[in-house]
Amino acid sequence: MADDGDRHRQSRLITDEDGGFDAERARDESLPVENGELIDTDELADHQHYVEDRGIYDERNRVNDLTGKEWKYATKSVLAEGYPPDVQHDLRSEHGGQKPPRLCAELIGRFSKAGDTVLDPFAGVGGTLLGASFCEHDGTGLRKAIGFERNERWTELYETVLTRENEERRARGEAPLAEQDLRHGDCADLIDEIADDSVELLLTDVPYWHMDELEQTRNERETRESKLGSFDGDGTAATESAASNDTDSGTTQTKAEWLADMAEKFDRFTDAVASDGHLVVFIGDMYRDQSYEFLSADLARAIESTAPVTLAANLIWYDPTKDLHVYGYPFSFVPSMVHQNVLVFRLDDE
Ligand SMILES: C[S@@+](CC[C@H](N)C(=O)[O-])C[C@H]1O[C@@H](n2cnc3c(N)ncnc32)[C@H](O)[C@@H]1O
Repeated sequence: MADDGDRHRQSRLITDEDGGFDAERARDESLPVENGELIDTDELADHQHYVEDRGIYDERNRVNDLTGKEWKYATKSVLAEGYPPDVQHDLRSEHGGQKPPRLCAELIGRFSKAGDTVLDPFAGVGGTLLGASFCEHDGTGLRKAIGFERNERWTELYETVLTRENEERRARGEAPLAEQDLRHGDCADLIDEIADDSVELLLTDVPYWHMDELEQTRNERETRESKLGSFDGDGTAATESAASNDTDSGTTQTKAEWLADMAEKFDRFTDAVASDGHLVVFIGDMYRDQSYEFLSADLARAIESTAPVTLAANLIWYDPTKDLHVYGYPFSFVPSMVHQNVLVFRLDDE
């Protein structure tokens, strides 16, 4: 086994003009480099192996397929990326709450392994399902995805999106995206079809709380009064965007009813998730009645109160491409919501 002296001698053989270690050249010559240093692969433990260009992979990794170097990046609590409209965005945006498939693929890569099953009980037009299919082409390996959606308009739109996207991909000579299993119906019924412990990741974007009409009218009036105009936006108010995101439901609920409904549903969903799996949940906070509605915190506590899970993280998806509006100016500070929360739960030990 090479000692430290050997390793440094070896590194010195690949030097740049200034006599320093030339990591780029070493990489070009397919030598194992991590953190700017040449790795002596003989020194790796039995459970480690070097993956070209990606770093050292630890076979004990139960969470994902990332190397140590990739893992370090993937634990960042902020995802600061705006995803340009793609994958038939014009069609998918008929659904006000659609999520970028590539953002979903990024989260799926962090919280599952190739071949795992991902479940989205509130699937909409299939951001999660498309993300699971993308994983195959991004080199992280296909995941099987199952989605539930009670509005047939969205299940049909997912089919149209996939057909059109794959026609375009074939025309460009690219491999098609795998078709995933989107089931039409109420998740409260469909969840019974999923065997216990058969899902490694539940990734979803919950239906928003439908405020009762009185609350909503008062809220919209206050928003109109405080809104002087928008710099460059589409005129959507912070409060309205969240409330109207899920356009298919006419029912209204108090916040307590919404939280109780979510808590009960997640308790049932959790049975489907394997013991070392995760639940990852998108939820936007709201601003209403001149105060911040910490929906993410409320939802996290509600889910923890019924389901056998513990909140492991609150990731922030910051979308730098979001339009800014003038709310409250010049009298009152009103936030322009350019982020969403991504709650990460792990299952409690039995
Ligand atoms: C915020 S959207 C999800 C959007 C999705 N992430 C996408 O990329 O299209 C929530 C979805 O849950 C659906 N939904 C609400 N309640 C449901 C239920 N009980 N069963 C199944 N789907 C439901 C709504 O119709 C809505 O499309």
